[in-house]
Amino acid sequence: MIQSGATYVVMGLLDSDSIAWAIGQTIERWGGRVVYTVQNERMRNIFLEKSDRRVPREVLDRLDIRYCDVTDDVQIEKLFSGLDEVAGVVHSIAFANPRTCLGEEFHTPAVDDILKSYHVSCVSLARVVWHARRAMREGGSVVALTFDTSRVYPYYNWMGVHKAALEALVRALARRHGREKIRVNAVSAGPLHSRAASKIPGFNQLHRIWRMMSPLPWDIEADKAQVANMVAFLLGPYAEKVTGQVVVVDGGASVVAGFLLPHERWEYPTALSDDPHEEHDLPRPRSV
Ligand SMILES: NC(=O)c1ccc[n+]([C@@H]2O[C@H](COP(=O)([O-])OP(=O)(O)OC[C@H]3O[C@@H](n4cnc5c(N)ncnc54)[C@H](O)[C@@H]3O)[C@@H](O)[C@H]2O)c1
Repeated sequence: MIQSGATYVVMGLLDSDSIAWAIGQTIERWGGRVVYTVQNERMRNIFLEKSDRRVPREVLDRLDIRYCDVTDDVQIEKLFSGLDEVAGVVHSIAFANPRTCLGEEFHTPAVDDILKSYHVSCVSLARVVWHARRAMREGGSVVALTFDTSRVYPYYNWMGVHKAALEALVRALARRHGREKIRVNAVSAGPLHSRAASKIPGFNQLHRIWRMMSPLPWDIEADKAQVANMVAFLLGPYAEKVTGQVVVVDGGASVVAGFLLPHERWEYPTALSDDPHEEHDLPRPRSV
């Protein structure tokens, strides 16, 4: 899966619920060396504080965590110029102001927020690849994280637009960097519990919808490990001729037309409503 002893940069650590954490743990299990990035020192302290009770101290003590705000080109350049040889990079980063870019109403006059979200969630991948290529002299693999762009989901609004752009960017970068033997792919994950997910209004509803669409059982906590496995596969030598692809790890939800019929569904131990329009957990509709 992973080149044993090789260095992989995993960008986008916030806490031990982050997909980045699951990916880093998987890479380490396969013998890779992980350099994590957090946005800034404050985020690093939050990570260490929040992980104190969940991650053994000896594990926390030996983590290599660096700072990189991906909206600052100088920081991206500094990160990669400080690393000798990198075999792969994971871009597990997204941001959108939930008050303007996500929510009941798609339209917003907050164009600056849309542009910032686009910069962090999409454009930054290009800047990361640009600077990382110097540390990938023998070639390498870059993997970004996306969410189903074939359909339109409630509340996901501008992030859905930016994810579609991110997938187009993955293909453009794959074409541009093939001659340097740098592969660029994305993993499209089903909904997973994380800080970013908790900022999406109606995330619980998305979880409900998934249970009604996914032929395989989908677990928003445990299946981070399955997403991480696919990222590790794409990072490693078994995927040597795979580039420009969006590989879907979503329990099969994306191939199902409509919702699964009751007899087709996995029986989850905790029952959820069959009604996808139920407003439970969602903000009340605005009065007209
Ligand atoms: N959670 C899900 O359901 C889900 C599903 C599919 C794809 N994804 C994608 O997975 C990736 C990771 O998200 P997550 O769910 O682990 O949430 P998370 O909140 O743990 O991770 C998001 C990360 O982006 C970082 N970030 C935001 N702005 C930044 C900036 N300017 N510079 C550097 N870092 C910045 C945050 O600090 C955080 O570490 C995102 O791209 C997300 O869209 C998530």
